[in-house]
Amino acid sequence: MKTLTLFTTLLAVSAAKKCIVKPSSSNDSGIESGEESSLNNLPSDPSNPSNPSDPSNSSDPSNPSNTDPTNPTNPGEQTNHDILVEKARAEGKLPADFKWGAATAAYQVEGAWNEDGRGESVWDHFTHLYPHNVEGEEGNEDSISGNVACDSYHKFDEDIEMMKIMKATHYRFSISWSRLFPDGQAKKEEGKWNVNEKGVEYYNSVINKLIENNVTPLVTLYHWDLPYALHEKYGGWLDYHSQYDFANYAEFCFETFGDRVKNWITINEPWVNCVSGYRLGPGKAPYRCTGEAPRKLANETEGLDLQGGCSYEIGPSQYSPESEVLEANRPPQRLEDVWCSHNILLAHAQAVKVYREKFQKEQNGLIGITVDGEAQIPWIEPGMSEEQKKINEEYANLAAEFRIGWYSDPPVTGDYPQSVKERMGKDLPEFTEEQKAMLKGSSSDFLGWNTYTAHWAAPIEGQTPPTPEEANFENSKRDMWDDNCRGRGDGWTCIPPTLGSQAGSSWNTKYPPTIRVGLNWFSKRYEGLINNGIIITENGCAQPNAKVSRANDEVTAEYFKSIDQPEYADTYEEEIIENEDDKNTIIRDLYRVDWYQQYLENLRLAFVEDKIDVRGYMAWSLIDNFEWENGYETRFGMSYIDFKNDPELKRQPKESLKFLGQWYDENIMQE
Ligand code: BGC
Repeated sequence: MKTLTLFTTLLAVSAAKKCIVKPSSSNDSGIESGEESSLNNLPSDPSNPSNPSDPSNSSDPSNPSNTDPTNPTNPGEQTNHDILVEKARAEGKLPADFKWGAATAAYQVEGAWNEDGRGESVWDHFTHLYPHNVEGEEGNEDSISGNVACDSYHKFDEDIEMMKIMKATHYRFSISWSRLFPDGQAKKEEGKWNVNEKGVEYYNSVINKLIENNVTPLVTLYHWDLPYALHEKYGGWLDYHSQYDFANYAEFCFETFGDRVKNWITINEPWVNCVSGYRLGPGKAPYRCTGEAPRKLANETEGLDLQGGCSYEIGPSQYSPESEVLEANRPPQRLEDVWCSHNILLAHAQAVKVYREKFQKEQNGLIGITVDGEAQIPWIEPGMSEEQKKINEEYANLAAEFRIGWYSDPPVTGDYPQSVKERMGKDLPEFTEEQKAMLKGSSSDFLGWNTYTAHWAAPIEGQTPPTPEEANFENSKRDMWDDNCRGRGDGWTCIPPTLGSQAGSSWNTKYPPTIRVGLNWFSKRYEGLINNGIIITENGCAQPNAKVSRANDEVTAEYFKSIDQPEYADTYEEEIIENEDDKNTIIRDLYRVDWYQQYLENLRLAFVEDKIDVRGYMAWSLIDNFEWENGYETRFGMSYIDFKNDPELKRQPKESLKFLGQWYDENIMQE
């Protein structure tokens, strides 16, 4: 891996460490505590007429959910797409306009973290501040952060060569917000944006190169790399003002890149961003999790790993206009993930509103959100009664409403699922009527879904659903089991059987029907509400590596045999496991080839047989990259990079990349 000089590294680390959030009394960048002052220095509310996302600036009062540039004006008229679908289904293939490609995200591949005026994101800040939170080499900062990553900032041409091998028609990448707006706050004054021009140059060149190479850009505006300045200023997504800053940044992107970008994803995986960043963990930045943060804050640090763990450094925040202002540098609070989710969904809707009102008609593009979540498989076992099976099916739907619908219902139907509202009671924030109207249909152009593994679901014996009086966060799922293990032991170890074989990440098991089950679930739930179908915006796996445990293989195999589905036990040979010292074991990624083959077959069946409107598939990922808390040795890429020994970070195609090229030829119509 290319390394920064030791001197620069030390400088960066010490700078980051000093950046403890300023106390709430500061008036230069923080919010003052006290309601009357909390709006100073904050992004404009929609009531401010100079705000570019101000709805009152718009002259188009039409209902956004009616805007669909690709649908014919006369209902019932056959579109070009309909004709392609008919032809494809007749041949058992996917249509010629199917979006086919691979995905990456800015922080995971770009590197150049402090180059050309880029601002810090929460990932830069917190990986530097807590170097033990990412797996890597002690003392080698580049191995535990995205400082250099794949250096796509300088090597994008090489990435394009990899796309060609898989015959990609599309490429999904994300824009780094803080590369464009180092302090996170986009402003247009006298017709001029306060943007970092070097950042604009970079994304212009990425977009133009893609188009020159006949690859259509599919652009994500936010893939977890929140500008650190907004975390310091108001606690990022915990504060309701984040939605206006996000909408302003999005507006800049539509205005600048929208002449060439026709496919926009607002937010990637709100669940992971919020639950993993603000509750579980320390997994994702900004490492808000209960753990030892209160002790650190109280300076009771004896025996603590100060270089790792949960963070307390945060700006003063106001969850909603009605909430009190919470002071800076506080330990993580109950429900932070719930509020993060609420505000991020509003941010998505605000950005869509800007696009619909100011750009969509003229630019003729599509916009939607990408949610994640495991399809839920009703638990079965030999001899189970029909009645029990039915109950498990109901619980599978309930679990899916919690895991997926919580995030996908608001942008489609305008509100949280009824079950989530009932079971969460007062702990679930409410959308106002105006917000519901803004959310409704905000992902009606298309819905993005990232799918990896699946969960089983069933009721928990002896538990009852919460009564209305008991409804709250803690009780909301107390009678519900959903997991890809039969249970959990000490330290979250998996009690077998597991739902499918163990891939290279602890949470990632291979169960190919999940994609078909999930596509059917969405399709039924949102019938008639999504105009251009579902796009699989991520799917893939880390090839098994030395870190994964295979202790469950036997019990898992027995279980799947007992229910007549031996193929899902899918035990694999030792030689398939990656060995970092032998590049051939990484390049011959046969486990991944099988993964893609089986998941894609399920996707094909969902399209051809179940008649599901699925419009695209982006494999995760084009190249090996920074796998968040798992660092660089959990490899999801279809192209190998030797991060440790190759200063050039050369990309080398793996078997799976070639396999996808072949799959394209055989299964996707070419007109
Ligand atoms: C994320 C990616 C990540 C992948 C594998 C998805 O949840 O969007 O950024 O690398 O999963 O963990």
